[in-house]
Amino acid sequence: MSPSAEKGLACKPNIGLNKKISRRDFLELSAVWACATAWVLTVIGLLKFPKPALLPDISNKFKIGKPEDFPVGSAKILADKNTVIFRDEEGLFALSLVCTHLGCIVSKTSEGFSCPCHGSKYDKKGNVVKGPAPRALDWFEISQLPSGKLVVDAGKRVPVGKKYTV
Ligand code: FES
Repeated sequence: MSPSAEKGLACKPNIGLNKKISRRDFLELSAVWACATAWVLTVIGLLKFPKPALLPDISNKFKIGKPEDFPVGSAKILADKNTVIFRDEEGLFALSLVCTHLGCIVSKTSEGFSCPCHGSKYDKKGNVVKGPAPRALDWFEISQLPSGKLVVDAGKRVPVGKKYTV
């Protein structure tokens, strides 16, 4: 039996665990590993970047019901769609409740609409009465399905005053 086997060292691999690392080497290795880790995480982040975490809503259309659900003179606010549906003697129209200044949600008032953020005011048709809003509230296209249900397309604007006649 060899002298090293007698001491129990014969099977231990020499992987440098017993080698002392100087403080300088330790700091250099730490810096290299930190840079490598940051680089790998950056590459992983960049690979994920072009793919959105949430897929945008493909369609801006939503059903609002049948024409008889909107009696003449009615104003129905669809808060989850930020839209208000009006019906008068001339027809139906859908107005966006999103302020054209910076996108706050306007509230309906007796004179029209009012923005709580910077004080813009709109008349009942969404025309700007007081700035800083640069333009009228959006009017959305309304169409009707063969089933008779009305559909608002919040992705399609129509000129202010264009109503859907039923
Ligand atoms: Fe409405 Fe500024 S967001 S006035």
